[in-house]
Amino acid sequence: MGKTFDIGLDRLTGAGVPAIETTAGGGLKPPLQEAGTFYLETFGCQMNEHDSEKVAGVLLARGYRQVETPEAAKVILYNTCSIREKAAQKVFSRLGELRPSTVDSRQATAREGERGFNTEDAEEGHRGHGDASVDQNGMRVAAGAQPGMAVPQGGMLNTRKLVNAAGGKIIGVLGCVAQQEGEEIFERAPWVSLVCGSASYRKLPQLIAELEAGNRRVTGLDTDTEETFETEITRRDNPFRAYLTIIEGCDKACSYCVVPFTRGPERSRASASILDEVRQLAEMGYSEVQLLGQTVNSYADPSGRKMRFSELLVAVAEVPGIRRVRFTTSHPRDFGKDIVEAIEAYPAICDHVHLPVQSGSTAVLRAMARTYTRQEYLEKIALVKAARRAISITTDIIVGFPGETEKDFAETLSLMEEVQYDGAFCFKYSPRPNTPSLTMEDALPEEEKSRRLAILLDRQREIQRAKNEKLIGVVLEVLVDGKSRKPGQWSGHTSSNRVLNFSSQAENILGDYVQVRVVSATPNSLVGEMVKSGQR
Ligand code: 5AD
Ligand code: SF4
Repeated sequence: MGKTFDIGLDRLTGAGVPAIETTAGGGLKPPLQEAGTFYLETFGCQMNEHDSEKVAGVLLARGYRQVETPEAAKVILYNTCSIREKAAQKVFSRLGELRPSTVDSRQATAREGERGFNTEDAEEGHRGHGDASVDQNGMRVAAGAQPGMAVPQGGMLNTRKLVNAAGGKIIGVLGCVAQQEGEEIFERAPWVSLVCGSASYRKLPQLIAELEAGNRRVTGLDTDTEETFETEITRRDNPFRAYLTIIEGCDKACSYCVVPFTRGPERSRASASILDEVRQLAEMGYSEVQLLGQTVNSYADPSGRKMRFSELLVAVAEVPGIRRVRFTTSHPRDFGKDIVEAIEAYPAICDHVHLPVQSGSTAVLRAMARTYTRQEYLEKIALVKAARRAISITTDIIVGFPGETEKDFAETLSLMEEVQYDGAFCFKYSPRPNTPSLTMEDALPEEEKSRRLAILLDRQREIQRAKNEKLIGVVLEVLVDGKSRKPGQWSGHTSSNRVLNFSSQAENILGDYVQVRVVSATPNSLVGEMVKSGQR
């Protein structure tokens, strides 16, 4: 079985994409004159992937055309992730590749030494943000920047020279690194001229226009706006699964996490607006939607309807044409029986819950400020396991949190054993700027974190192998979302979100729901053969 699958459909990206795209309502926007080209690369989580769909939508609607390489683009954008040090470093590697050749190499080298450019393992310090002023549009403009004026950066590099040297390109950093580092990005990579966090994406065309008008540096760094949800046009990349953010930001304040800082406080989208968009998606032909939020089940309907999260799940599942509803990520504190009951009652709500535990030790959970004990978490798991329909459970785990003893780690292993997760994302603790755990004592050496991570991953792999092998012989429904280069080989996802690679001589079944018998299993996927074709 080949490992790589083509998506098999035009992924709606690249030079072949017309400047004008379908609106969320399925209608076509009137043609505009091409405003320029943009390249957009995304790092990190599904929320970021979906944010990039919104960014692309906003730019396409303004007449920009998306291209596949930075070389072909006038505007180069990186949508970044800062959840762990390595993720945050990636964007600086990319920016290093774009360094204009005329940069004073002496100065650039000095900066790299100071901040660890291009190196995956560079240390990230705890830094504040530079001062900024607010212009009349509510956009933050780098201190000292004036429209039409090159900003001398404290005797550092000549920005105008750099912008010109970069071929007149506009280079922008979006997302969590933008929010976290703010204007310090300009210091570190002076050829960047745009820094914009997720709450300000609607302003992107305006920010780019300011740059084109001669402003050298612009920022959009507010986090407390409602605007994230108001993007009218989203250019969706995935033709089978439509993502929808229903709650932005996070109020939980886990002691290791940058998200409350980079994405701001929790803001929920009105239920009627969510349901309108789901109806539009169904009309466009989407049958699977995934509701997104850092803590999706903390959803609090801001409208008079005051829909609970579980009621919203049901309302989405009842939209004609919707056959699968997913949601991620759930926080254990807000996970209740009503969610399990909704899954039981509505087959369209997928039998999968992602419930990050982070640690199996109550002492570590307390230090992490996770707001639940091991016992309380296990009670939530018991609710899921008691469901009439089997529901798969996946999780996130952090090893090597400051002060995690061998005994604490053994408790995480024993919890993993007890729950028998269907999947687990395991991470080494990574100290992050602006987080309470940054200054905690008893940090663990890297080697010890790696040792614990390897033990965890090995054990989880065996659990998954055993769980997947139990599915051999079972017939599962699959939404076909990939076609192999090898003829007759397809790929899809089960309701439990397992990848199932299967053989079928049928033609053009992409987007269909088909029945597949599992014939073999690995820890990460299933292999099968189609026993019954289906429909879209
Ligand atoms: N170090 C390691 N892992 C982290 N996560 C979040 N912050 C950190 C950190 N500082 C993990 C958590 C979270 C997932 C998205 O990333 O497990 O659930
Ligand atoms: Fe981060 Fe905790 Fe919020 Fe998840 S719940 S985004 S881990 S602060």
